[in-house]
Amino acid sequence: MAALVVPPPAAGQLDFLAKQAGLMYFGSATDTPGQRERAGLEASYGTYDYILADPREFGQTTPTNGQKWLFTEPEPGVFDFAEGDVVADLAQQTGKILRCHALVWHSQLAPWVDETHAAGNWTKASLAAAIERHIRGVAGHYKGRCYAWDVVNEALADDDPAGGYRKQSVFYEVLGEEYIKLAFRVAAEVDPGAKLYYNDYGIERPDSPKTKGARRIVGMLKEAGIRIDGVGMQAHLHADNHPTAQDLVRTMEGYVAEGVEEVSFTELDVRITMPPNETSLDWQRDCYEKVVRACVEVKGCVGITTWDFYDPFSWIPYVFPGKGAGLLWFEDFNKHPAYDGMVDVFNELIEAKGGEGEREEGEGAGEVR
Ligand code: XIL
Repeated sequence: MAALVVPPPAAGQLDFLAKQAGLMYFGSATDTPGQRERAGLEASYGTYDYILADPREFGQTTPTNGQKWLFTEPEPGVFDFAEGDVVADLAQQTGKILRCHALVWHSQLAPWVDETHAAGNWTKASLAAAIERHIRGVAGHYKGRCYAWDVVNEALADDDPAGGYRKQSVFYEVLGEEYIKLAFRVAAEVDPGAKLYYNDYGIERPDSPKTKGARRIVGMLKEAGIRIDGVGMQAHLHADNHPTAQDLVRTMEGYVAEGVEEVSFTELDVRITMPPNETSLDWQRDCYEKVVRACVEVKGCVGITTWDFYDPFSWIPYVFPGKGAGLLWFEDFNKHPAYDGMVDVFNELIEAKGGEGEREEGEGAGEVR
């Protein structure tokens, strides 16, 4: 990749304030030029890249797509890191923490994995070996560069009141929950320095079945003596029906009580029914503010990542028809009210704990490291 021109710090504030409030980072995921959401929007790349690079705005990034199995191991045993490296290099060049995403996931899987399953050709042993080879290949390639890895993504069912596993997954169908243990065991061996996360959506409210499922996964791994360091709440939220700060706090405390040392908001966006209006943008601001309040309040919450920051590059309109405007910058690069809302809340919380500086010794999320 050509050397990226890193602009001088602009007016960015989110990471700058998040750190003063005691978080490790405020970040944004980003994709690689040419991916679906960016196609045809090349004219906005310059401004977009400038905002993304600003270290005061975003202290962390995640590749939205490039490290997924589909890209990294398109054929059995054949690895390709071109897409993932673009974002890993950008993180390095712009001084950002890199969250890595995602090692084992039923979706955006290389077709050969599902095809082998459809042909009835996986045995427990051969699929376990394929998972292990994949993790060794990918986590091995990025070893030392990932602050955290989403080791297993979205293993829980959407419609199970008992919070059970997602059944339509080649991994679950062949191996049951053993695949989760295997994935964490291998990841821990390959990259001992990376925080190992279970990551999912719909696990932000304290009493939801999936939240119970996520807690159960943490407990299962702990009981088996396998390392898991964090739970990532994707937080693909809805402006018109979002959790309270209290709910978010209780949920995070629940994960910490199961024994993970940290939690984070890994894919935050707050979708709106299109077109947005003053009311829906106000609800959205409220939701982003609650995430900030809750994360700052919970000792183990290390940071917040939005799932990109510029509305036209968001996945939401592609996957949820009629919804959109879930991020922080509109198409014309004006900021959403949620941006200023978060700035105000950060400032309020920084002031409340006595002005500038870090969280007190022994109290901050930063201290878990
Ligand atoms: C999304 C990407 O943003 C899209 O570009 C892609 O087409 C589909 O995946 N949960 C996850 C993310 O863990 O990897 C997903 O990202 C969004 C939901």
